[in-house]
Amino acid sequence: MSRLSHRRAVFLVGFMGAGKTAVGRALANHLKWRFVDLDDEIERAAKRSIAEIFKARGETDFRKLESRELRRTLERVENEGAAVIALGGGTFAQAENAEKLRQSRVPVVFLDAPLEELLRRCQAEPERVRPLLDRGGEALSILYAERRPLYLAADATVQTLGKSIPEVAGEVARWLMQD
Ligand code: S3P
Repeated sequence: MSRLSHRRAVFLVGFMGAGKTAVGRALANHLKWRFVDLDDEIERAAKRSIAEIFKARGETDFRKLESRELRRTLERVENEGAAVIALGGGTFAQAENAEKLRQSRVPVVFLDAPLEELLRRCQAEPERVRPLLDRGGEALSILYAERRPLYLAADATVQTLGKSIPEVAGEVARWLMQD
């Protein structure tokens, strides 16, 4: 039984700069599925940008909004399927969210890269405001070290260093098609 025959959907997880959005779009395009970016869903529901949410309400409130939108997205996926969903860097690192995803049995793929590369990619994308980047190098190293083992609990890990977005999307697609 292919991984696709259970539920035609996949969640992409990983640290900021992993390429979840870019790979997700390419993969959705390739599979002719819907693409959903959880950060966009949060912004739409809150009618504020992620940066504004962090500033006005703090990280704790942001995490509540994030979990709520994840639940909504899961309900939609269970009803409609055919979606690639890019999560935020912290979504899968919250135990409650990871448990919900496990229960859903929708495959979760971790896009992996070394921290230096992730930070380089974030710097190359200044238009995407990421409030956690303001915490600086040491705090980010600690966050990365804390989160990486949690991401590794995903159903599959794809190394992204030195690969193009279509290459990574192709690897995820092949993994999904495997028996
Ligand atoms: C976050 C990552 C961001 C966004 C928010 C918090 C995190 O998403 O959800 O700024 O906790 O790592 P990206 O990973 O898409 O940048």
